[in-house]
Amino acid sequence: MGSDASAETVRYKREAASAAVDRFFQPGMRVGLGTGSTAAFAVRRLAELRAEGLLLDVVGVPTSRATEALARELGVPLTTLEDAPELEVTIDGADEVAPDLSVIKGGGGALLREKIVAQASRRLVIVADSAKLSPRLGTHWPVPVEVLPFGWRSQRRFLESLGARVTPRPGVDGALFLTDQGNLVLDCAFGPIEDAASLASRLCSRAGLVGHGLFLDMVHDLVVSGPEGLVMRARPA
Ligand code: A5P
Repeated sequence: MGSDASAETVRYKREAASAAVDRFFQPGMRVGLGTGSTAAFAVRRLAELRAEGLLLDVVGVPTSRATEALARELGVPLTTLEDAPELEVTIDGADEVAPDLSVIKGGGGALLREKIVAQASRRLVIVADSAKLSPRLGTHWPVPVEVLPFGWRSQRRFLESLGARVTPRPGVDGALFLTDQGNLVLDCAFGPIEDAASLASRLCSRAGLVGHGLFLDMVHDLVVSGPEGLVMRARPA
């Protein structure tokens, strides 16, 4: 039963990611390539289409070293934001999706590069299985906060003062997880967040916090798959 459920989830992730690539990637585009198990299916779909002779001139900017490695392995051409500072569209995953299409991201630790790439894109498409849908951000998932190692325990106290239960993200062999930038991630469980915009602005104003996983007013489209089938939704006006 458990493995059936997880096989279903993998299928939903693949369906959502593949449908998003088919719908939103067009010839000649410069695109952002997201991070995580769902976004990886988008990279795989792009590689499949390339094998069929389609979208051969699409180039991607990866949002993490992991995605860069996957794209290279699959032969997907890459560029950088230095060479392509404006992207047509980015397809990425999310950890929790609210009805207004605000999302929490960063479960894979790539939140900062993901936000940089998303903000360099004219369109951000989130792909997800339907278990990610939530009535309110914070209900099911903590907000990851990327902090400089310098003074990180003071950031922990600051985040606790905002009401979070803070867990430094563990890495391997008892060490703390390090992002691609060499920073730490503090996972902040707030519970359902009443005012995500106000929280985001408090996080942004603190020196030493270099990024957070609240993506508000950034997502243009959601492609979600689940037991009810595949649904594409644009952000409400
Ligand atoms: C990576 O840092 C994240 O933002 C992912 O996009 C997010 O955690 C979703 O991951 P999965 O697609 O693996 O569930």
